[in-house]
Amino acid sequence: MSDSSPITSLQVHVSLGDRSYDVQVGDGLLDHLGETASLVLNGRTRAAVVTESQVGPLYAERALESLRAAGVDPVLITVPEGEASKALGVVEKVCSPMAAARLYRKSFVVALGGGVIGDLGGFCAAIYQRGIPYLQVPTTVLSQVDSSVGGKTGANLPEAKNMVGCFHQPAAVLADTATLQTLGKREWNEGFAEIIKHACIRDAAMVPHLEKVAERKSHLPELIRRNIAIKARIVEEDEYETKGLRSLLNFGHTLGHAIEAAAGYGGMLHGEAIALGLRAAAWLSTRVAGLAEADARRVEQLLAAFDLPLVLPDRFATDDLLGIAASDKKFEHGKVRFVLLRSLGEAFVSHEVTREH
Ligand code: NAD
Ligand code: GLY
Repeated sequence: MSDSSPITSLQVHVSLGDRSYDVQVGDGLLDHLGETASLVLNGRTRAAVVTESQVGPLYAERALESLRAAGVDPVLITVPEGEASKALGVVEKVCSPMAAARLYRKSFVVALGGGVIGDLGGFCAAIYQRGIPYLQVPTTVLSQVDSSVGGKTGANLPEAKNMVGCFHQPAAVLADTATLQTLGKREWNEGFAEIIKHACIRDAAMVPHLEKVAERKSHLPELIRRNIAIKARIVEEDEYETKGLRSLLNFGHTLGHAIEAAAGYGGMLHGEAIALGLRAAAWLSTRVAGLAEADARRVEQLLAAFDLPLVLPDRFATDDLLGIAASDKKFEHGKVRFVLLRSLGEAFVSHEVTREH
């Protein structure tokens, strides 16, 4: 049922000139989707709500109702849940119904779901009629703290993750923290892989805080706001990842993405693969970048506190993973760009990591 009473929300402004937007964080924001659309996309009255088979039945009706109450005529497009939907074939399955519903350049997209839908829906918005606006309504911890902010959209290829896509900033992000209550334990925990990544690269003070919150005891909206702010500040300084700063967000992702691709998309949750990549990158940092072993152990213990995997399952061969990493975007002139830590909170991009490490 819709409740459009005023709610208390936290806000992070992402300052990118004419692509600036606000991220709202708080319980119940889904029922304010229509109001937000009216505010930031004034005059646009047609929309596609793109969602997936697990999130749609839980939250799509409230999203549609809120849009209708604001005078928007929405069409609902639902794809199967899971990473396999971040594929070019599914892009067509979203864009065709948009065309059939006669969405035009003054329409917009709402991406309602986790990171898969955010990336896919955002990409469809970026390319439909050469680009229409979209709103992110992230419903996982991972998508609220990371993927809904920063405008990276796209799809996977069988060869490697996120190989096609473009930058397309959302017009607004509504992170309704109440939607996180329906997440399964695994999906809840995987989001903390990206939070631990943020702590490692930019916010060492978050580490002791996270050590206390492993059991859902923290006030989540504030933790989510803190993480969005870390990402927002990086994106503001290096929106298109050309200055080396945004690359720091790839800490743990060189191996993590390779593991995800090797597992077959959906074989392992994104955050779980990233956890394996974070652990490997932390220990590599002790050998190559002077990170104290006690700090690598602390990262490992933090991952374990959120029940994230620490050991690569036997079915993965290291050589296969390195082969996949070599076809990743992070591979330059025969060397993998690897993000390493000098200390907790201090990351840098190394070009010196070789297969032998
Ligand atoms: P996801 O979207 O697949 O969601 C994980 C699972 O949770 C799915 O089964 C989904 O159906 C379920 N779910 C989602 N919301 C729910 C809810 N509120 N209640 C119950 N179940 C719910 O995966 P994710 O972990 O959110 O995102 C991973 C994706 O994000 C990957 O494709 C990754 O590459 C991408 N990503 C993108 C960026 C970026 O900057 N664009 C950053 C990080 C990750
Ligand atoms: N998740 C990496 C980035 O947004 O740059």
